Amino acid sequence: MPDAHILGIETSCDETGAAVVRSGQQILSNVVASQIATHQPYGGVVPELASREHLRAIVPVVRQALAEAGQTYESVDAIAVTQGPGLAGALLVGISFAKALAFALEKPLIAVNHLEGHIHAVLLEQRQSEKAELHFPVLALVVSGGHTHLYLAEVQENLWTYRNIGHTRDDAAGEAFDKVAKLLGLGYPGGPIIDRLAPHGDPQAVKFQIAQIKHRDRRDHKQGDQKQGDQKQFGHKQFDPKQPGAEEDGPHFDFSYSGIKTAVLRYVETQNLKPAIEARRQALAGIDEPTLEDCLRLCDRQTLNLVASFQRSMVNDLVMKTLAAAREYDVRTLFVSGGVAANRELRTTFEREAGMHGLPVLFPSRALSTDNAAMIAAAAFPKFLRREFVAMDFCADAGMSLR
Ligand code: KG4
Ligand code: ZN
Repeated sequence: MPDAHILGIETSCDETGAAVVRSGQQILSNVVASQIATHQPYGGVVPELASREHLRAIVPVVRQALAEAGQTYESVDAIAVTQGPGLAGALLVGISFAKALAFALEKPLIAVNHLEGHIHAVLLEQRQSEKAELHFPVLALVVSGGHTHLYLAEVQENLWTYRNIGHTRDDAAGEAFDKVAKLLGLGYPGGPIIDRLAPHGDPQAVKFQIAQIKHRDRRDHKQGDQKQGDQKQFGHKQFDPKQPGAEEDGPHFDFSYSGIKTAVLRYVETQNLKPAIEARRQALAGIDEPTLEDCLRLCDRQTLNLVASFQRSMVNDLVMKTLAAAREYDVRTLFVSGGVAANRELRTTFEREAGMHGLPVLFPSRALSTDNAAMIAAAAFPKFLRREFVAMDFCADAGMSLR
């Protein structure tokens, strides 16, 4: 296998990332400039501000990534960039810069789907491990601020193919974390804050019901299949994502998280928590970089219990639906990636529950769970080997799907 140094560039949302990865497995540098401070006052990502921040950061971030890797513009073998999904204006900054570099340096240009990047964040680190053999089919849960998607993944001769077997019908899981944190006056982004506060509350205190989506394919399938999912053990049934009709056939496992956000809001209203929330919001706004102790000091027991109960419900739903899908499709390995995969309770629950069924579950390290460019450079490597390069007129694709 040839040695290749790929410069990856990621600007799909609110992190400007550049990284150099050798042959899809060794990270030589991975620089991320976060825009959290810019978006914090708005409680969410403001697209126009994100584009401007990317413009400001892109040149220094790429330079730093090359310098830390001991590489130069001339020495890298290819340039990889996120094509989508993401914010159109944000994607365009990375794409325009990557195109300019590729054109000026006469280097191949590789377009990468951001979701495939999240999946390759797992593969990147898995390739470095001693027990590197991977058993297929692989089921990947990509769970972030924009996505809660389940994919069956296969590879043949470096060609990775994906089949979507579930997605959120409304809010993504990360979005629910962010909105609930905002609702409780805890700041932005909500996931990491809720993750750290939850162990301080009682996860059984508030009962939340999360919508269970009935999919037509799922019901049809169950009627014709006497081996009901719950009793099934993990096996090694093969699937062919390229088979005609593969997209339409088979059971689906969809998610829905807008209801739990509304339930939290209703709880806040009926329990009259609003005055305390407003006081907390103002107090936290006055602190430059609030610590866990600051947040704890500003949260009463009832709020901590609410946070813990919300997180427990989210985690249980994500784990339960993913494992049901894993059983139904007889998968042999589970990947969990994307920003929410950094969540501690999600990791330990997946490990415990999947472990009980003898199903290996792989996560990226926490730093590679959230958006970064190393995962983009890693996902580009199989495409580099296949010489899957894009022409200079390729476009950003804000709603890009993965297949
Ligand atoms: O993958 P990512 O960096 O960006 C997207 O592609 O969306 O994911 C960001 C999302 C945010 O919603 C953030 O709140 C959530 O991931 N997140 C977490 C944690 N760290 C980040 N959610 C729960 N627990 C965490 N520790
Ligand atoms: Zn992401």
